[in-house]
Amino acid sequence: FQAKPLAGKRVLLTAGPTFEALDPVRGITNLSTGKMGYALARACAQAGAAVTLVSGPTGLACPRGVLRVEVSAALEMQREVLARAGESDVFIGVAAVADYRPATPSAQKIKKNAAAMTVELVKNPDILAEVAALPRPPFCVGFAAESHDLATYAEGKRVNKKLPLVVGNLISDGFGGEDNTVVLFDAAGAHPLATASKTEVARSIVAAIAERLPH
Ligand code: C5P
Repeated sequence: FQAKPLAGKRVLLTAGPTFEALDPVRGITNLSTGKMGYALARACAQAGAAVTLVSGPTGLACPRGVLRVEVSAALEMQREVLARAGESDVFIGVAAVADYRPATPSAQKIKKNAAAMTVELVKNPDILAEVAALPRPPFCVGFAAESHDLATYAEGKRVNKKLPLVVGNLISDGFGGEDNTVVLFDAAGAHPLATASKTEVARSIVAAIAERLPH
């Protein structure tokens, strides 16, 4: 047992949802409280790491000892992450990034004159996959929140995004609540963790990351 298993390490995380503007007062977002990402940022700081948290809009206070960079849209999150990824030892993508954004957001409030309207969406970048594809990537950890077939999808994300570690959880288990049940997926297979508070789950994930880092 090591009290500060991440001492001397620089950890970059994303957390929360992203918000993709349609006009000045409306947009598309994902349901995410940010609790798991914030718990993980706190656990990394308590483990001795220098922690930067690139956060989408949440109602949460910045954990003690964590440097928070607040963003709204996925493109801003991408920019802030890529500016820091090269100097990080660990990158943990916890954010629920919106997969698509409106192609041409309106500078003015859209009026409800039309009986129907169509919004064209374009795909957002996959921030985690981009970081994992850097020439000298940090140790990259992904999250897979799934409604079904957790092992198949989580393992698929691990392989496709070229991640050494994916944390999988069933949406029914973790969403919005205080507790979470997760399974870790790495090249050796699936490692289920006991159901626990998000704080305790975060500490277990930190321990799993620390074990896998080069010394
Ligand atoms: O959305 P998806 O299930 O593919 O998310 C899996 C992982 O990839 C998560 O860790 C998430 O934070 C990350 N991700 C990302 N950029 C995206 C989509 C997902 O960093 N555009």
